[in-house]
Amino acid sequence: MGDRPLRACVLGTGHKVPDRILTNADLERIVDTSDEWITERTGIKERHISSDEQATSDFAVPAAMQALEEADLSPERLDTIICATATPDTPFPSLGCVVQKRVGAVNAFAFDVTAACSGWIYAIGVATSFIRSGTAKHVMVIGGECLTKITNWTDRSTCVLFGDGAGATLLGPTTNSKGILSCCLASDGRHGDLLHQPAGGSRRPASHETVDGHMHTIHMKGNEVFKHAVRKMVKASSQAAEEAGVTVDDLDLFIAHQANRRIIDQSAIRLGLPPEKVYVNIDRYGNTSAASIPMAFDEARRSGRIGPGSIVGVAAFGGGFTYGAAVIKL
Ligand code: UT7
Repeated sequence: MGDRPLRACVLGTGHKVPDRILTNADLERIVDTSDEWITERTGIKERHISSDEQATSDFAVPAAMQALEEADLSPERLDTIICATATPDTPFPSLGCVVQKRVGAVNAFAFDVTAACSGWIYAIGVATSFIRSGTAKHVMVIGGECLTKITNWTDRSTCVLFGDGAGATLLGPTTNSKGILSCCLASDGRHGDLLHQPAGGSRRPASHETVDGHMHTIHMKGNEVFKHAVRKMVKASSQAAEEAGVTVDDLDLFIAHQANRRIIDQSAIRLGLPPEKVYVNIDRYGNTSAASIPMAFDEARRSGRIGPGSIVGVAAFGGGFTYGAAVIKL
């Protein structure tokens, strides 16, 4: 392979969402809200939600199979599976191990990354390091969530926001100039209480009191999170562009975590990106947390909006706080 540095590049992608759709009109019948409020404040029109029987691996597995199929790679050739999720099928085994079993990736080691909505970018960072160091060759990175399973359906400030699904990104080695050109990760644990799931861990294990108090669901001070999200995604995106040796103008497409249309638009404006370079699918899926960027990335590739040679900027922000950005050349 000569002296050229080893990079991680995209070999295949896939995504899968539940069939069932919950519209804003449906939500009007559940809580005191309106299609007008949800559309204006978030940009969401509908979201896909899992059934009682479905769990995150039911979407992660088909997404991964699509990515393997595109790359024409058999599951046995995967060395690593990294799943970014806050809603694995069970606290353990990890979602990674469940996916490994269900796709038949018998030679892989598998684990989960917990970084809330930024999880996929964190997992891309880990996968890139494995590939560059030679620890792994073929790494399946999945962002998968069933956030509607940890949603308080009596809290209108959160229950209108979330949807379910999974996106998969298969990475492999290359010595070309394409691939993951940069990946910048950051956290700020001081703000953990602004967006969290209060119970279900070792601090507050499940009890009648925690269940009755909806403490196993998402709690968020939305307007405070909003301000941080724009500032931090802009900061991380500028840093990722600089580290990749590109300018924001060089980006063919910008995919931000789909948490709120207004956050996406304000981030793009501050970065100086025109609307035609900004990917938006929050209207159809809502906020799918760690799944949102890989789902959008796959959609953009499959629809031909990006293709070989395209330079894509991705940015995320989530509970923790965690945030990050990457620049990917296809
Ligand atoms: O994914 C990880 C990161 N997450 C995010 O980035 C989410 C960031 N935050 C947001 O997207 C927005 O803050 C929300 C969409 C969550 C909320 O929008 P907002 O414009 O910040 O609204 P707000 O929380 O300041 O509430 C404004 C008003 C309140 O009423 P009053 O006090 O002004 O009378 C709320 O009670 O809107 C009310 N409200 C609603 N009204 C109708 C809150 N939720 C609803 C609702 N329907 N669903």
